[in-house]
Amino acid sequence: MSNVEIPAGLKELLQGYAVEVLRRKPPDLVEFAVQHFTRLLEGQRNDHGAKKRSAKPAGKGVTFDTKSNEPKQVDEEEEEDTVTLLCFNRLVKSICAEAYNPDDEEDDDADPRVVHPKSDEQRLRLQDACQDILLFKTLEQEQFSEVLDAMFEVLVKAQEHIIVQGDDGDNFYVIENGVYDIFVQKDRVSVCVGKYDNKGSFGELALMYNTPRAATIIATQDGALWGLDRATFHRLIVRNNAKKRRTYETFIECVPLLKSLELSERMKIVDVVGARVFKDGECLITQGEEAACFYVVESGEAKIMIKSKMKAVQQDNIEVEVARCSRGQYFGELALVTNKPRAASVYAVGETKCLVIDIQAFERLLGPCMDIMKRNISQYEDQRVALFGSSVD
Ligand code: CMP
Repeated sequence: MSNVEIPAGLKELLQGYAVEVLRRKPPDLVEFAVQHFTRLLEGQRNDHGAKKRSAKPAGKGVTFDTKSNEPKQVDEEEEEDTVTLLCFNRLVKSICAEAYNPDDEEDDDADPRVVHPKSDEQRLRLQDACQDILLFKTLEQEQFSEVLDAMFEVLVKAQEHIIVQGDDGDNFYVIENGVYDIFVQKDRVSVCVGKYDNKGSFGELALMYNTPRAATIIATQDGALWGLDRATFHRLIVRNNAKKRRTYETFIECVPLLKSLELSERMKIVDVVGARVFKDGECLITQGEEAACFYVVESGEAKIMIKSKMKAVQQDNIEVEVARCSRGQYFGELALVTNKPRAASVYAVGETKCLVIDIQAFERLLGPCMDIMKRNISQYEDQRVALFGSSVD
């Protein structure tokens, strides 16, 4: 894929079509595509200077004919349109799966600002619940305050279905407390694929990508959530995601682990990452603790240290450095893959910036990279044997 040159205007052209599909929800996508692109073509022919709102293509990206600028016979044109539409269908599929680009939305700013008044005590609880929410980590302070203003408290009862797979998305939720099971339908059977245990957030996917709910979320006990309405989520989080994509596009393409992913898959990762800066010596991960996140180093270094009770290391519990990760390298995957406590501690060397992915997004988006990760994991054991002898902790 990396050698394929994308013609100027193609992305905008397809995004324009995708936006129209999402707005109008036509029953037949192919027929709608023919109408949409025919309208564009006619508009272009009739008015060379006109700018189309639904797609802002650079001149050469709009034409169906890639070989000639001459008008063609109807038969030849129809045949070529069919072939082109097949390609469009594939490409549009992946574009639809991308975040709905808020930069294309003119109405967003016109939406009234939502404010749900809160007591000081409620605001403190809300701030506490939101402090580790990755989607909020790249917001400016002003945007973050707007998010907090717009959030509203939701008290839930055990067995309540907070989200039902297949429904339209209404709110995004941050967990204040409670345990929530995640069910996904596979071959008509509902499978529990994980749970949120008193922290985290859910319900972002349907709002980000204008898709039906991808999972069912059920409270297993009474709990408390904070909701954020769809319009505010769109105006603040999705719009911020467009900025995030521009910021991290180049970096994420250079991460060796993610090379095998499609561009749209890499962008979905960018949509959900949080950026965190750690001071020199700060502990990012503590050996023995439960794991919640995966990290990719953007700048600085992270050193991986293991406490060993081995005789080879003279004193018990002394930490020994086993590896260092620099820009583009990752850590924190072992415990997520093996479902075990953290096998090492990690510290920042100098000021270190990492992109952070939570366990649910890790499992959902990094499946295709699992083989590479497992290969690397098998080398950890060799490395520990080399350092500590054959019988490792
Ligand atoms: P959304 O599709 O809006 O609603 C259901 C939510 O469940 C989804 O967003 C995610 O936030 C969350 N979720 C957690 N794990 C998964 C998973 N494996 N597949 C899909 N959604 C998941």
